[in-house]
Amino acid sequence: MSFILEARDINYSYPATDAQALRGLNLRIPSGKKIALCGHNGSGKSTFFLHAIGIHRPAAGGMLWKGEPFSYRQDDLRTLRRQVGLVFQDPEQQLILSTPYEDVSYGLRNAGVPESDISLRTAHILASMQLTSLADKPIHHLSLGQKKRVALAGVLVLAPELLLLDEPTAYLDRASEQQLLAELDRIHAQGMTVVMATHDMNLAYAWADWVLVMDRGTCVMEGTPAEVFAQEETIVSLGLELPLLLDLWQAVPERLRRDAAPPRTAEAFKRFLLEQREAWEFLNI
Ligand SMILES: Nc1ncnc2c1ncn2[C@@H]1O[C@H](COP(=O)(O)OP(=O)(O)OP(=O)(O)O)[C@@H](O)[C@H]1O
Ligand SMILES: [Mg+2]
Repeated sequence: MSFILEARDINYSYPATDAQALRGLNLRIPSGKKIALCGHNGSGKSTFFLHAIGIHRPAAGGMLWKGEPFSYRQDDLRTLRRQVGLVFQDPEQQLILSTPYEDVSYGLRNAGVPESDISLRTAHILASMQLTSLADKPIHHLSLGQKKRVALAGVLVLAPELLLLDEPTAYLDRASEQQLLAELDRIHAQGMTVVMATHDMNLAYAWADWVLVMDRGTCVMEGTPAEVFAQEETIVSLGLELPLLLDLWQAVPERLRRDAAPPRTAEAFKRFLLEQREAWEFLNI
């Protein structure tokens, strides 16, 4: 497994605070995966993301991009931020201009995209985030969920190699969440590594193919969703909950589950139950 981004032994405290937000953080982002970054409030997820684009600088330890230590020179940071896109937890921190169309096209202009491509790419990403009808509406008139989608569009349109999303589904309704996940799957299939910080363990379990868990400024678990969530006691002791599907799966008698892999979607679970029912009916049980 190769790692696109790594944090090594990072300590970090916010100015004028005593508590360490990151303490000896070692965390590795595997290339090409869909990664869920989990952890209770204040465990350091957002602080790690801000290190990943060089906004915060570690007090000790270092960040690596494709095995190379970060350089904090202004032009190297600019290059890094073209490769790593961060969608902030709070969209207010991200949106600069007055309408979705202006905000998204500004990012492209800033990245040096030729003027002739800008309107096409902007229109395309706004359409894929279901924002076309809001394109010219003042941003301060948008709902929080709509602002989150605009902030996402503004980063997605720049097609970074590594996409970091801080709680992207918070405030999104079910339809917007499904659209976002479909869009993420599409860009992931084109080769982008996607990391999502989330409190939604059901989403982490169903969506991710790699899970990282942070606790008090360190990374305490890493592995596939099946590996990580199999450690039920640890998950619960870290203030997280077991994904609902896995919890229900464990209520299925073991002799029925046998070697079957735990289902990751409700549809797969339903299929399993229907198969069992057919087998019972066949046996006249
Ligand atoms: N701007 C700040 N100034 C001072 N302390 C901060 C600041 N931002 C975060 N912290 C502290 O740093 C620690 C890590 O916070 P961080 O925001 O990284 O956690 P998080 O895992 O993203 O939490 P959440 O799930 O609530 O978003 C917390 O103890 C928090 O209080
Ligand atoms: Mg956070």
